[in-house]
Amino acid sequence: MTDRELYVIAKEMTKRSYAPFSKFCVGAALECKDGTIFTGCNVENSSFGGTICAERVAMTKAISEGYHDFKQIMITSSGGEAWPCGICRQFMKEFCDDDFIIYTAADIDHIRKYTMDEILPEGFRMEAK
Ligand code: THU
Repeated sequence: MTDRELYVIAKEMTKRSYAPFSKFCVGAALECKDGTIFTGCNVENSSFGGTICAERVAMTKAISEGYHDFKQIMITSSGGEAWPCGICRQFMKEFCDDDFIIYTAADIDHIRKYTMDEILPEGFRMEAK
């Protein structure tokens, strides 16, 4: 899927966001290596630490459905670019190769492209025993 196609899906997901506290509505579209798409939006909570970002919602949906091989993710928001937070970078690192692509977009004509390695250099991953 092209980055622009992924953007349209992610942008649509901002409408599903539950963000009554920050009012920052984030949408994500995750593409698996086989082309399957999983979507996510941020889901906030009155106990702020319970908030889940759009990226982690998309990835946990995928993993819970048995998908583990990821190609790329698009992140967008109601208010310009959304940069993956530190927790999401570490979360994605667990499942993604260094060449996994992360797009962040203020709008469809301003899509920025990064790799997993670029947004989390020297990232930590423990070998499963
Ligand atoms: N948020 C995301 O969902 N993804 C990001 O990449 C950045 C931040 C959410 C979490 C919270 O609901 C709101 O944006 C403000 O931090």
